[in-house]
Amino acid sequence: MTRNMDESVVRPESTVTRRDLLASGGAILGGMAMTGQAFAQQAGGQQSGGEQTGGDPLAVSQTWAGKPFGSGLLARKVAVITGAARGIGRSIAVDMAANGADIVAIDICAKILKEQSYAVTTRDDLEETARLVQQNGRKCMQVVGDVRDIAFLRATADKAEQQFGHIDIVVANAATQHFKPLVEMEDWEFNGVIENNLIGTANTIRAFAPKMIAQGKGGRIIVLSSMQGKHGSKNMSSYSASKWGILGLMKSAALELGKYKITVNALVPGLVDTPLTHNEERWSALIGEVTANDNPPKNPTEQQAYETRAPHVPLKVGWLKPEDLAPAAVFLASDGAAMVTGASYDVTGGDNANNQS
Ligand SMILES: NC(=O)c1ccc[n+]([C@@H]2O[C@H](COP(=O)([O-])OP(=O)(O)OC[C@H]3O[C@@H](n4cnc5c(N)ncnc54)[C@H](O)[C@@H]3O)[C@@H](O)[C@H]2O)c1
Repeated sequence: MTRNMDESVVRPESTVTRRDLLASGGAILGGMAMTGQAFAQQAGGQQSGGEQTGGDPLAVSQTWAGKPFGSGLLARKVAVITGAARGIGRSIAVDMAANGADIVAIDICAKILKEQSYAVTTRDDLEETARLVQQNGRKCMQVVGDVRDIAFLRATADKAEQQFGHIDIVVANAATQHFKPLVEMEDWEFNGVIENNLIGTANTIRAFAPKMIAQGKGGRIIVLSSMQGKHGSKNMSSYSASKWGILGLMKSAALELGKYKITVNALVPGLVDTPLTHNEERWSALIGEVTANDNPPKNPTEQQAYETRAPHVPLKVGWLKPEDLAPAAVFLASDGAAMVTGASYDVTGGDNANNQS
């Protein structure tokens, strides 16, 4: 067991060393699927040399693996990121800082709904994000609060503007999920997820975009959807509905804010290993999804879940890591993406190739 640098949970070596897998020169990924032996090799952290092989489809990833993407792409920018204490939000914060942005890191650092089946984010997690941002030579304003509370977000926008003078980038990343068949859900289970994810994302845009409009220098807004916002999800209807809604919100905001040179785009992750998904409930659901089994094993191991899913993903990975997402966010936030708006950007290991949209 080891502590992953960019996540707060203690986990088996296996997922921590996916980079090792990539660095193995594709020997492991060369086959159609990752074998038990390969997973064991990953778990043991063994490497078979660091040379890249020409035919490896992940060779491009290997050039930046473990390092920030780009250099100075966001110099002198200020980026606000919700849900920044861990997971994908932290990874985006750190990569944006490595590219020169100061960060306003917002997180609730507490339980989100009445019941939460996965690890609750802590203030130490947010502190760790700030430490990693500062390690990259940038400032980090830590703010504990709830994106469901628009008054809190507006007050934070005022404070961020006072401290940094401007706000250039907003990443509306905070979200939760809850598993239950639709007809068995209580109001808090369905409405609560919609309120947190969809209304929380709208609140974030409504609180921060007026600052960008007033500044008159354009801006970048990135919202987090999901592949589950492009297809249905058994027993996750509230999450799926919230993520479809976020795509409609993104396109509408892009239409309205384009005249201010503010772009609005969605980052669409496939399955990513974060505290949100690193649990038996999610692994069981993904085994059910890929095997079309209504009764998947209730307590699968991480290895079982990874190996079951990997053959179905074009790039033959069971899931991604948070740092696989950050480069796309950095690009969408950069000057180079000035003409990209109203778009969704899938980072899924190829899972999106199975989808129509
Ligand atoms: N992990 C995946 O497989 C995956 C896949 C597709 C999309 N996403 C999306 O990526 C984003 C980040 O997810 P993650 O996997 O890093 O999850 P995570 O749980 O590790 O991180 C999310 C963070 O958001 C914070 N948060 C949630 N609700 C909040 C609120 N009301 N106010 C303030 N902070 C709040 C949480 O405290 C947590 O720290 C989410 O929008 C999620 O839906 C994740």
